[in-house]
Amino acid sequence: MATVRSAAQGILADDNTETREQIVEMLKKAYWMEIETVMSYITNSINPDGVRAQEIVESLQQDIQEELGHAQQFAARIKELYGVVPGSLDFTPEQSYLQPPEHQTDIVHVIKGVIEAETGAIEHYNRIIEFCDDVDLVTQDMVIAILRDEEGHRRLFEGYLREYEAEGLA
Ligand SMILES: [Fe+2]
Ligand SMILES: [Fe+2]
Repeated sequence: MATVRSAAQGILADDNTETREQIVEMLKKAYWMEIETVMSYITNSINPDGVRAQEIVESLQQDIQEELGHAQQFAARIKELYGVVPGSLDFTPEQSYLQPPEHQTDIVHVIKGVIEAETGAIEHYNRIIEFCDDVDLVTQDMVIAILRDEEGHRRLFEGYLREYEAEGLA
């Protein structure tokens, strides 16, 4: 079988193997963050009790689909960069702050947990964007679009928190 030549330029070039592998590792971390966020948002869109929780629940229900879409984008990019999307046994949970609260009417706990998760994503995605500068503009472009979604999520939940703070409930 004839060998195909690899790309001479760009992140797929042989010269960029080490950089590419570093990006793949960062993408794997991003992938797991999205997967865990999907789990946490399902949990926290079902558990809360009370009239006040309704807005938060509906907002999280919408976000689940978006976060799942992010996970799929990160997975696809891992493959494009010659990586392998990890299996579930490689998963290590980190979102201690999004575990169910003691009382299911404690919606402030959920709001603060979501802000923490979104902030973590924002920080990691900014690191990827900076790392990709001048070396992988395709990954950078993708992550910039995802970052905008996370900034939107964070801002929305900051707004919810402000309302609770204004009422002396947070
Ligand atoms: Fe996301
Ligand atoms: Fe998000």
